[in-house]
Amino acid sequence: MNPLIELKNMTYSAQQKTILDIPSFKIYDGEILGMMGPNGAGKSTLLKVLSFLEKQSSGEIVYRGRTIRSGQVPLDLRRRFSVALQKSLLLDGTVFQNIALGLKLRKVSKAMIKEKVTHWLELFGISHLAKKNALYLSGGEAQRVNLARAMIVEPEILFLDEPFSALDFPTKIRLMEDFKRILEDTRTTAVFVSHDLMEIHYLTNRLAIIVNGQVKQSGPTTFVLEHPNTSTQSFLNEWKKFFPALTDNSFRQEKFLKL
Ligand SMILES: Nc1ncnc2c1ncn2[C@@H]1O[C@H](COP(=O)(O)OP(=O)(O)OP(=O)(O)O)[C@@H](O)[C@H]1O
Ligand SMILES: [Mg+2]
Repeated sequence: MNPLIELKNMTYSAQQKTILDIPSFKIYDGEILGMMGPNGAGKSTLLKVLSFLEKQSSGEIVYRGRTIRSGQVPLDLRRRFSVALQKSLLLDGTVFQNIALGLKLRKVSKAMIKEKVTHWLELFGISHLAKKNALYLSGGEAQRVNLARAMIVEPEILFLDEPFSALDFPTKIRLMEDFKRILEDTRTTAVFVSHDLMEIHYLTNRLAIIVNGQVKQSGPTTFVLEHPNTSTQSFLNEWKKFFPALTDNSFRQEKFLKL
């Protein structure tokens, strides 16, 4: 399988500190890749480097076999990516305007924008918020707007940084189910950072464990969770103490964890 994005000898440093050091890493077409790791491990930074929001300090990022030079990302490529950051950056304007922004930048017609925004507002259960100023939303409402804004441009690859962290449990479950279906229906590749083992288990096909700016393990999600290596076991085993059922086969057969 050819990778969609490949990192080669990539490092990222800030203030004389190496934050990421990744000799080789690949993201494949159509996969939903999870990223987990302790606070400060470098997950958000990696997401920003992969989505060209931050420039790497050294090494290469290769997109479908084409090396993209640092700081020279073609606009057409940028527009195939969509990013929902950890701190959602909603603008002073209505929810409708915020969700419409990506389409407006792509010069989509007003009628089409209205149709699409209406559709995504409905899908994320926020139609009633359309006219509300986005700066006054609750955390959970803002996360839905953030997701709708990222999805509406029908990206080839979607980068999500803890997108469900502020949602109450029933909302989280509903949105995760909807979201998984949308990703599968649209065959969108997604990279998804989370601290929530349940989200990772439910949504992702492959999992990368990031510790100290390095990818310490990657592989099929269930395999990584069941077989942490010597570098990831101290991190994963802590988690597994509290979620033993997630690595128990019989539990996985249950309706919610459709794996
Ligand atoms: N521009 C910067 N200048 C200095 N330090 C930075 C910069 N960007 C990131 N860092 C540092 O790099 C480390 C990794 O940060 P990052 O936000 O990627 O972690 P994370 O894995 O996403 O953590 P969390 O789980 O808390 O969100 C942190 O120690 C952070 O302070
Ligand atoms: Mg982060």
